[in-house]
Amino acid sequence: MDTMTPALSGARLNTGWSPASWRDCPIRQVPVYPDAARLAAMEARLTRFPPLVFAGEARRLKAALAKAAAGQAFVLQGGDCAESFGDFTANVIRDTFRVLLQMAVVLTFGGSVPVVKLGRMAGQFAKPRSSDSETIDGVTLPSYRGDIVNGPDFSAEARMPDPARMEFGYFQSAGTLNLLRAFASGGYADLHEVHRWNLDFVEKSPLAARYKDLSARIDETLAFMGACGLTSISAPQIRETDFFTSHESLLLPYEQALTRVDSTSGDYYACSAHFLWIGDRTRQLDGAHVEFMRGIKNPIGLKIGPTMEADDMLRLIEVLDPENEPGRLSLISRMGADKVGDRLPGLIRAVKQAGRTPVWLCDPMHGNTISTAAKIKTRRFDSIVAELRSFFDIHEAEGTIAGGAHVEMTGRDVTECVGGARGLSEADLGERYETFCDPRLNAEQSLELAFLLAEELKSRRAVRSHS
Ligand code: PEP
Ligand code: CO
Repeated sequence: MDTMTPALSGARLNTGWSPASWRDCPIRQVPVYPDAARLAAMEARLTRFPPLVFAGEARRLKAALAKAAAGQAFVLQGGDCAESFGDFTANVIRDTFRVLLQMAVVLTFGGSVPVVKLGRMAGQFAKPRSSDSETIDGVTLPSYRGDIVNGPDFSAEARMPDPARMEFGYFQSAGTLNLLRAFASGGYADLHEVHRWNLDFVEKSPLAARYKDLSARIDETLAFMGACGLTSISAPQIRETDFFTSHESLLLPYEQALTRVDSTSGDYYACSAHFLWIGDRTRQLDGAHVEFMRGIKNPIGLKIGPTMEADDMLRLIEVLDPENEPGRLSLISRMGADKVGDRLPGLIRAVKQAGRTPVWLCDPMHGNTISTAAKIKTRRFDSIVAELRSFFDIHEAEGTIAGGAHVEMTGRDVTECVGGARGLSEADLGERYETFCDPRLNAEQSLELAFLLAEELKSRRAVRSHS
C-alpha cells in the first residue's frame, strides 16, 4: 500500500500558494526519513545553492510547447526511467543525448516541423513505487525510491532514505546539465554529424532497406541546403540546438528548496529543471504534488493513465492551468496499447469541449510494461509502436493535435525491451539488463522508433495536404 500521510492542517486553502503550501496537503509516495533535523538542514542548504536553470529558459520552452500544441512543432521527450549515481559518466550522458538528437533529425524531416528536445535527464532520480516495502526471503525493507532518496541494494543501510543524497543529486544534475549545454552549443550537435550517425545506423540495421529512402532524402536536403550557403559556419541553427531538461516532480522537499522567485517577473519557478511533471500515482486533486505544481510558472506535464476520468482531469486542468496559458500544460497519455482506444478519445473530447488546447504527448512505455515468465520487467517494441499509432489515429479522428512522444530510452546497447529489428527475445534480456527501474529502448530500438514515427508523420502530412 501507498503511504498517505495525513494533512498537517486540514484541507487546502485555494488561495495562498507558497513553495511550502504542499506541506498542508495529503501526500503520497513520500520517503520516511529517520532524522527530521538532518532533512531540514539539507533543505536549508539546498535553498542557498544556485538554481540549475533560469526562468527565461523555462519561458522559451513554454513558447516552443505552445507551438507543439498548435501543430507547429513536435515534442520528443526521452531518457532513463531513473538516472543513477553509479552511472554518472560522460559516455552515458553523451550517448543518450546523441540518440535523442538522431531521433530528432529524423522526426524533423518526417514532420516538417521543429522538434522540441526535452531530456528526461539531469534530475530524473526520484521514483514512485507500487509498494512502500519489499520482502525477499522473509526480510522486509523499504522500497528503493530512486538514487536521490535511497540506494538500490537490498540492505537495511542502502534502503534507509538519506537526505545527503539530495546534495549529490543536485551536483550530478549540475554536472550533467553542464555537459548537455556544452554539447548543444559547442559543435557536437551539428546537423551534419548527427545525420552521419544516422547513416551509420541505417547501414547496420537489419531494416536498412526500409530506412534508406528517408535517410537518403535527408542527405539530399542537407546537400541542397549546403549548396544554398546554409552551412555550419554560416547558420548557427545547423551547428547548435536547444536542449531542455525534465523530470518527475516527486521529491517535494528537493523541489521546494530549488524553487526561486524570478526577478524579472516576480513569479516562482522550479529551478531544478525546465519542465516538471506529475506522475500518474501522485495526481490527486487535493494532494501535495498538485498543490506544489500549481504555483510554479514552468511548463508542466500531467501523466494520464487508464484510470483517469474526464471530470477529474478537467478539474486538474483548471487547477494547474487556470489561465489556459499556451504551452503551460502537457497531458502525457500512458494508457497501454490495449486500452488507449477505449480511454483516450473521451478524454480528448472533454478537453476539446472545455476549450482547452494542451500539448498532447504519448508515453507508450508505462502502460505496456509486462513481466516475463522469469519475472523480468520488459516491454514489447510492437506494443510501444502500436500505442503510438493509435494515439495518432485517435487525434486525427478527433481533429486534435498529436504533439509528441515521451519515451524511456538510453544511448547504450542494453537488452531491456523485447522486439525491434534485431528481434530481441525474452531469452536475450539477461545479457545487458542494466536499468534500475523500468526497461528502456536501446539506441537501435530508439532510432527505429524514430524512423517509424517519421514515416507516420510524413504520411499523415501527405494526407492532410491532399485533402
Ligand atoms: C515514469 O515516467 O517513470 C513513471 C513512473 O510514469 P507514470 O507516472 O506514468 O507511471
Ligand atoms: Co518509468
